[in-house]
Amino acid sequence: MQGVNEITSTRQHPVIAIDGPAGAGKSTLAAHLARRFGYLNLETGAMYRALALKAIESDYSFDEEAPLLELASTTRIVLEPQIEGNRVLLDTRDVSKRIRDADVTAGASRVSVHPQLRAWMVGQQRKLGDKGGVVMEGRDIGTAVFPDAEVKIFLDAAPEVRGNRRYKQNAPETAPITEEAIIKEMKDRDYRDRNRAESPLRPAADAVVLDSTRMTLAEVLAKAEAIVREHVDASSL
Ligand code: DC
Repeated sequence: MQGVNEITSTRQHPVIAIDGPAGAGKSTLAAHLARRFGYLNLETGAMYRALALKAIESDYSFDEEAPLLELASTTRIVLEPQIEGNRVLLDTRDVSKRIRDADVTAGASRVSVHPQLRAWMVGQQRKLGDKGGVVMEGRDIGTAVFPDAEVKIFLDAAPEVRGNRRYKQNAPETAPITEEAIIKEMKDRDYRDRNRAESPLRPAADAVVLDSTRMTLAEVLAKAEAIVREHVDASSL
C-alpha cells in the first residue's frame, strides 16, 4: 500500500512518537494509542519531573548543570506503564502524584534546558523504547530520541484552549488557581521549551502536525489512529 512503511530496523513493532506543548492532550492520546495497539506508554516528561523533585529535595539549584548531572547519575527513575498513565518511581519511592505539583512542574521545565542532562535522559529513553511497541510522549521524541520513529505526531493547540482544558481538568480540591494563571504558566513554559538551545520543542520535518484547537477528543483519537495505520504496515502493528 502506498505511504505505508515496512519496519526496516531490528524492531518488530513501531515506535510511535507523540510530541507537542504542555496541555495539548499528549498523555490522553498516548494512553489511547497504547491501549488500542497493545503497546507500552512512556511519559518522558515524568523523568524530567522526577529529577526536578530530587533536586528540590536535595536542595540543588535547577540552573547549574554539573551538579544536576552528578545527581542524575546517582538517581534511579523508573516509569511503570499502567492503563491510566505512568507510575513513577524515584529511587524506589512512588512519586507519581507529587511530580504533578506546581513547584516540580516549573523545575522540570528549568532542568530540561541543560544539554548534557538532556543527553543523559535521551540515552535512558532510547533504552526504554528501542525494542519498539511503544508510544513515547514528550517534546523531542521525533527529533532527538527516536529520529527514526515509524510514526511521529506533533499534537498542538492554541494556548488558550490548552489552558482552558487544564483548568477544567483540575481537581476541585487543588488550590484555587485562575484560568488566566494557568494560561500564563503554560505560555511561560512554552516559551522556555521552544527557545532552549538544545532540542527546542518543534515538529520533526517528517512529523504529522495535528492541531486539536477545533477538534473534539474523539476526532483527535480517530485521526491519530488513522495516521498510525497510514505509516505502519498492518503486519507490523
Ligand atoms: O510533559 P510534561 O509536562 O510532563 O514535561 C515536563 C517538562 O519536561 C516540560 O516543561 C519540558 C520537559 N520535557 C522535555 O524537555 N523533553 C521531553 N521529552 C519531555 C519533557
